[in-house]
Amino acid sequence: MNPEHSLKDFMSACQARAEAALDARLPVTAKIPERLHRAMRYSTLGGGKRLRPLLTYATGHALGLPMDILDGPACAVEFTHVYSLIHDDLPAMDDDDLRRGKPTCHKAFDEAMAILAGDGLQTLAFHVLACDPTIRVPAENRIKMIEALATASGSCGMVGGQAIDLDSVGKALDLPGLEAMHIRKTGALIRASVRLAALSSPGLEKQTSDKLDHYAKCIGLAFQIQDDILDEEGDTQTLGKTQGKDRDNNKPTYPSLLGLSGAKDKAADLHEQALDSLTGFGDEADYLRKISLFIVQRKS
Ligand code: IPE
Ligand code: IPE
Ligand code: MG
Ligand code: MG
Ligand code: MG
Repeated sequence: MNPEHSLKDFMSACQARAEAALDARLPVTAKIPERLHRAMRYSTLGGGKRLRPLLTYATGHALGLPMDILDGPACAVEFTHVYSLIHDDLPAMDDDDLRRGKPTCHKAFDEAMAILAGDGLQTLAFHVLACDPTIRVPAENRIKMIEALATASGSCGMVGGQAIDLDSVGKALDLPGLEAMHIRKTGALIRASVRLAALSSPGLEKQTSDKLDHYAKCIGLAFQIQDDILDEEGDTQTLGKTQGKDRDNNKPTYPSLLGLSGAKDKAADLHEQALDSLTGFGDEADYLRKISLFIVQRKS
């Protein structure tokens, strides 16, 4: 691995880039309705790891793509993710007060405004994919991007995973059931982050795109397993969200089914599988390899 390819520096550059790109695509607060636009900006800007944009940029790096053509896809997945967080925190769902180290959207505004801010961000994501002039691919690929994000976020993807999650409160899911929930509620959008970058490279060989997709599937599941682990053993300050909520809400999680060490083994195994998926790629995929490790080692 090339030691010059420090993930930390790349991550900081991607975070700054994503922040500016998100800001530029969000409606300005002065635009009516001001309060709604303030809520959308409040939840999107100035927080979060920006892991999904990072994955889009890192996949682009692995494919030799310039960063500027990836700003649209990176923003589309992050807008979708932020919408999912705002709704996930609502009293009808996980009922959380803290997100990214500050009051959740419904606490800072109100429930109705939080629902609408989520709705607005979801729609904005698709508007970006449909219209953003920095996406320079043939129309066919643009449509495939819209399809990929719709599939990842809809009832067979993130929204479906959230439905399983809420339906499973207090129930003991078995391992296949838990996996089915996690690959939808979190894995699908992480997969889309990689897929949208692959679609930014028209004519990409199917074999290459399949390898990237398998990588994304592994890290997507590992990501939610680590999220479950951190809910058990993290701390609220570092997490920026209240620790211990899964246990309080009686959620089925990997640690609740496999124990903490079983969950950690499963995440480590998925990390190895993710690395295997990248066999055949050279140094250009080092950021992707390092992101996989980051996902299973992160503390927030
Ligand atoms: C939290 O996602 C919600 C899950 C899907 C587990 P992140 O941990 O990526 O949250 P931010 O974007 O860094 O706040
Ligand atoms: C949330 O999973 C997944 C989505 C938002 C789609 P969690 O409910 O575990 O996420 P956190 O822990 O609140 O961030
Ligand atoms: Mg939840
Ligand atoms: Mg939650
Ligand atoms: Mg969680």
